[in-house]
Amino acid sequence: MTVVNADAGDIVSGVVREDHRPGYSLPRAAYTDADVFASDIERVFLRTWLFVAASAEVPAGAYAAWSVGGESVVLTRTADSVLHAHHNVCRHRGSRLLDDGGGRARTIVCGYHSWTYGLDGALRAAGDMGEGFRERCGGELGLRPVHVREAAGLVFVCFAGQPPPFDGAAAAIADQLGPHEIDSAEVIARFRYRVAANWKTLIENNRECYHCRPNHPEFCLSNYELGVNGDGRIDPGYEEEFARQRAEWRAQGLSEKQVSFPGGDFYRVARLPLRDGFETESLTGRLVAPLLGRLTRPRTGSVRVVTLPNSWSHVNADYAVTTRLTPVNAGTTDVDVTFLVRGGATEGVDYDTDEVVAVWKETSEQDWELCERNFAGVSSRGYLPGPLSPVTENSIADFHEWWFRQSEPD
Ligand code: FES
Ligand code: FE
Repeated sequence: MTVVNADAGDIVSGVVREDHRPGYSLPRAAYTDADVFASDIERVFLRTWLFVAASAEVPAGAYAAWSVGGESVVLTRTADSVLHAHHNVCRHRGSRLLDDGGGRARTIVCGYHSWTYGLDGALRAAGDMGEGFRERCGGELGLRPVHVREAAGLVFVCFAGQPPPFDGAAAAIADQLGPHEIDSAEVIARFRYRVAANWKTLIENNRECYHCRPNHPEFCLSNYELGVNGDGRIDPGYEEEFARQRAEWRAQGLSEKQVSFPGGDFYRVARLPLRDGFETESLTGRLVAPLLGRLTRPRTGSVRVVTLPNSWSHVNADYAVTTRLTPVNAGTTDVDVTFLVRGGATEGVDYDTDEVVAVWKETSEQDWELCERNFAGVSSRGYLPGPLSPVTENSIADFHEWWFRQSEPD
């Protein structure tokens, strides 16, 4: 359990910032120091919007629980399709109600003394509490709500009392993901990893494709290395192909608008071209599952949604893959990688799970190994912050600025 140091925020905005040279990787303490990690939980993770799950992971009559930084949220969806988010804390004496994970449920029953809540969070039953106990308690003993927003099939929560704005992210995500209708997709595979690296190491790795060519042979079959925001490499072939594919997207009514961390905000949404001949991120180039949602043609490129500090998703014509980071301590991050295909599709008939996951299971695992090696070196006394490439790693520098801003004390 992390104990939050009241001055933890100052270590980032003071000590770490003072030691930081813009355009370089961060000082070692930013990745390894327990007080910095405490600040990250308190000032970054518990103040911002966090990706929890795909909407499809919480259908009506189901729940999904997720713990992060000493907090825990339970998502539920009632029969009227309304999504709810509550603190995973019993209103009797505060027990944790549900373990992380998900499933079907009619009610939520506390394991301690069996207080029972509806999926809407209302207290339904509490035995042996004496006559008129609800009135004695002011009548309000439902689970306490957590801020929650759904954006075109992705669910985000915020534990802060006053969440930062979300409408811009919701609009940008809906603009791109709307036609893919991943809210009606279904999960076909989940992979959970415990990665021995700081969460920022994983974000930094995601924010550049400098490492792609030497490390991601499967990814590079379908993807250009270009397309990460701030990557300044020029490739006339890419530009030509991008222009051609944008015209195809327009003809299908798909948005081609790229939104990259506007005004330093937490989200990026972009539809990127796949290599000529590739309909999706697969090993063969061919679709590996039925078209998603309202799509009628396979040439849709690949939509990327990145939300700081804890997620990225790729949404192709035929499948979506979400990645969620859960920081555990300064040197440990849990990662959940979840694959979705069109709702109602049948394994063995419409798709083969191994084919759907082939590129992104392999690529993700390659990334975790890279991150662990990176973190091991950064943890060493031999580490000195090194220069970021002004050609390929600008998005890392932007992330650092975002992190410093988030880390400022109130
Ligand atoms: Fe939940 Fe007692 S703490 S029923
Ligand atoms: Fe990678």
